[in-house]
Amino acid sequence: MLEIINSYAGEQIMLARSPLSLYEGIRDFVVAERDGAIVGCGALHIVWGEMAEVRSIAVRPSEKGNGTGRILAERLLDDARQLLITRAIAFTYVPGFFEKLGFRVVEHAELPHKVFSDCLNCPKFNCCDEIAMLIELSDSPEPLPGQGPLSRALPNVYQGPFPVRKPTEEA
Ligand SMILES: CC(C)(COP(=O)(O)OP(=O)(O)OC[C@H]1O[C@@H](n2cnc3c(N)ncnc32)[C@H](O)[C@@H]1OP(=O)(O)O)[C@@H](O)C(=O)NCCC(=O)NCCS
Repeated sequence: MLEIINSYAGEQIMLARSPLSLYEGIRDFVVAERDGAIVGCGALHIVWGEMAEVRSIAVRPSEKGNGTGRILAERLLDDARQLLITRAIAFTYVPGFFEKLGFRVVEHAELPHKVFSDCLNCPKFNCCDEIAMLIELSDSPEPLPGQGPLSRALPNVYQGPFPVRKPTEEA
């Protein structure tokens, strides 16, 4: 995945990722495989209550144009819907690809500040030229107090109160 992403980063098409940032976000990723080899990847990163970012979508040059990018992106958007995420964003140099998926271009200023937290580490912090895009995923109602999207998506998850036990009680 690093090899694919960073090959495009070398061409200034994507932002480079370090091994550390990839491992930290590894659970965000889905991959496309052919004959056991990874030919594409993409990530869904939750940034705030009902908003997630589709990021790091990349397909090996030899596999481009075969629908792999669409499959990856649609899988990520399906995951977002499962989590009752209502808005997904992307920052990209290829708006045409995201428009095909239903995204529209938005002004950076329209997005909540939280989505820019990762920008602090970006070499283009002061001169961002990526295009911001957004897709509305559903008309889900606002969550009730204490009921975030994850707890509504996973209603059977025990949400406490959690018993507190002194370590010495466990022999
Ligand atoms: C952008 C990228 C992920 C697309 O992957 P892909 O597998 O080639 O795309 P697909 O074959 O699934 O194309 C899906 C649709 O998007 C369109 N599309 C793909 N790349 C496009 C581009 N650069 N500009 C405009 N439209 C594009 C295709 O024509 C296709 O439209 P259709 O469904 O009407 O036929 C791939 O080109 C890539 O890895 N690019 C370099 C990294 C990058 O820029 N990633 C973007 C996220 S930051």
